[in-house]
Amino acid sequence: MLLDGRTALVTGAAQGIGAGIARVLASNGARVVIVDIQETEAAALAREIGGHAVVADLTTQEGCRHAVSEAVNLIGKLDIIVNNAAPARNRSLIGEIEGSDWDIHGTLILQAAAWLAAAAQPHMGPGASIVNISSVTARSVGEDQCTWPYHVAKSGLDQLTRYLACRLGPSGVRVNAVAPALVDRDVGRKLSDDPEMARIIRATVPLGRAATAADIGNAVAFLSSDAASYITGQVLTVDGGLGTREVFAAGILASGEK
Ligand SMILES: NC(=O)c1ccc[n+]([C@@H]2O[C@H](COP(=O)([O-])OP(=O)(O)OC[C@H]3O[C@@H](n4cnc5c(N)ncnc54)[C@H](O)[C@@H]3O)[C@@H](O)[C@H]2O)c1
Repeated sequence: MLLDGRTALVTGAAQGIGAGIARVLASNGARVVIVDIQETEAAALAREIGGHAVVADLTTQEGCRHAVSEAVNLIGKLDIIVNNAAPARNRSLIGEIEGSDWDIHGTLILQAAAWLAAAAQPHMGPGASIVNISSVTARSVGEDQCTWPYHVAKSGLDQLTRYLACRLGPSGVRVNAVAPALVDRDVGRKLSDDPEMARIIRATVPLGRAATAADIGNAVAFLSSDAASYITGQVLTVDGGLGTREVFAAGILASGEK
């Protein structure tokens, strides 16, 4: 299997895309530690995939250190770290954003990734890899989809990916990011459950559907494996081809006009 004998720590994996990533890594042979603030859900997924769960709040450096030391106690070393946890999205416009909104995005998306890398570095040898879960909104603006600090923090995460790739490359550790676009997650109402949204997705996404969490997990598994042995500092877009559309043409397709 692609990740036989590897160990992985996946943050924010109690639900959603993180849970999908944890499932794919485990099905490719990795021993997975799920790190999340949701204890019950994390424990249930750990049982399902034969992995482990660690409860940690990654908005503090102590929480990040705790996550790494618990994971190392459980699985002995760290071959793969996936920085997936993110704050719950809201649709605030710029004038309504609270200072705390900037704080939580900067802390959980950016600082936690840096804190985890620092804590994990002594436990990561040559061939190890970090994958940051970014977003296509790091480089284009989805106005009413999520809050501005989310987009800005994801842009910062892409740059942190390049920085860490340079910093950790000499020790043989690769650092990349995966940037999803539209994802049908396993929690709540799926994007494609809305018939109008499903029509727009069929019209505008060349592959004709939203991603599943497993699609994102497959990209993470590839970047974490030896199949990506000379790839570092890159952001891999996983969008079903949506970004290849010229924006105005996509708008025409979405409107149903020919
Ligand atoms: N959903 C999408 O369409 C989409 C698109 C592009 C990128 N992404 C990215 O994918 C990742 C996962 O997205 P999702 O929609 O599955 O998110 P989600 O909100 O469903 O899950 C986030 C997870 O992070 C955990 N978490 C939150 N705060 C935490 C903290 N302080 N410490 C530890 N864990 C914490 C939550 O408990 C939850 O399990 C995020 O980084 C998101 O930005 C999502």
